[in-house]
Amino acid sequence: MTLYKSKFSVNFILHNGDCMQIIGQLPDNSVNAIFADPPYFLSNGGISVQSGKQVCVDKGDWDKGGTPEHIYQFNKQWLSLCRSKLKDNGTIWISGTHHNIFIVQRCLQELGYKILNVITWQKSDPPPNLSCRYFNFSTELVIWARKHEKKPHKFNYEIMKQLNGGSQMTDVWRIPAVGMWEKTCGKHPTQKPLRLLYRIILASTNEGDTILDPFAGSSTTGIAANLLNRNFIGIEQDSSFIELSKQRRKLLDDPNEAQKLLKKMRETPEETTVLVNHARPKDYELMIEKGMCYLRAGDSKGSLLIQKGFERLGYVLLHINGEKTQLFPLSKKGFQIWTAENLQALGFTAEHAPYYAVLRFEANKPINYDQPINLKQRAYTNVAKICPLSDFIGLK
Ligand SMILES: C[S@@+](CC[C@H](N)C(=O)[O-])C[C@H]1O[C@@H](n2cnc3c(N)ncnc32)[C@H](O)[C@@H]1O
Repeated sequence: MTLYKSKFSVNFILHNGDCMQIIGQLPDNSVNAIFADPPYFLSNGGISVQSGKQVCVDKGDWDKGGTPEHIYQFNKQWLSLCRSKLKDNGTIWISGTHHNIFIVQRCLQELGYKILNVITWQKSDPPPNLSCRYFNFSTELVIWARKHEKKPHKFNYEIMKQLNGGSQMTDVWRIPAVGMWEKTCGKHPTQKPLRLLYRIILASTNEGDTILDPFAGSSTTGIAANLLNRNFIGIEQDSSFIELSKQRRKLLDDPNEAQKLLKKMRETPEETTVLVNHARPKDYELMIEKGMCYLRAGDSKGSLLIQKGFERLGYVLLHINGEKTQLFPLSKKGFQIWTAENLQALGFTAEHAPYYAVLRFEANKPINYDQPINLKQRAYTNVAKICPLSDFIGLK
């Protein structure tokens, strides 16, 4: 067993061995959530594409397929062991493809779990299908289930909604496959993206909670968990992957590396954005009263209207010289172009440009954002900017 005490005072515990033996040694009712990425049993001589080249699908001996009966017994055994380790409001997430996931579903139901959702992880950058005899494989499924049929489970509904730009998070998650920035210590053949684990952990646990991964691989779950101040218990049978996990964990001891990883993990390429908008004190009050803000439609430096991310604006962060920051959801999609005179007629200053883009927001629904941002430390505090929503919410 390897144990790191991290600077966040959360644990990173790794067990090197067979999860069928080790899960049983953990205390009952002790973990808040489980993420499992078990063998899919798909390394059976098929072909795939890696770095533009045709390769044989061979993830390792642990992924070589048995009979349907073997796959069933295997999944039934570890899922049964895991259930008693979950707290009563705990949930389990299991990833898979058609090779294993329908068997996992059957086992879950037979063991008394209640299936809550089946998440479709849609890869935004799937490799091509070389045979051209099938649709392109671009998804994996993640079953989310709770321990008990009747007892309520933990779900951070509001955080998920905020991450989704203010509307209910759906069960289709568009997230790119694992990136090079996640493989700086080496790679695991079936490594999961940190961004997938970020969402899973945020949805189903709180800071200080404990997450178990019985098929830890390179410990993506543990890295995401520790970055989010959650404890991690991982089990992995292959000692080379234990080494890789330790290397990945070591990176987090460098605060700059940890910060960089946290920022990358929280970003999603198509995420909702925030208009960070400085206002003069008089305009600030009036903007909140009228639920509208505005920015120059264009100036010598160009226009925010054609900057990437403007089309995904979901929020406005109002501030006065980096202070009195308030985050509001935009109330309508799109914007209107107003003249300076129109704005002045309502009492706004609007004196630096002939035309302004006007956006509406819900002034009576300020958002409780959880990251103290110091706008004054950013360059050009008073210049309007477009920032990813993950700069402001989603840490808890
Ligand atoms: C699909 S991979 C997990 C990858 C991981 N999610 C990551 O991001 O790196 C499954 C892992 O489970 C391990 N494994 C397979 N059977 C196991 C068992 N019975 N006990 C412990 N580990 C096992 C394999 O060695 C492999 O590293």
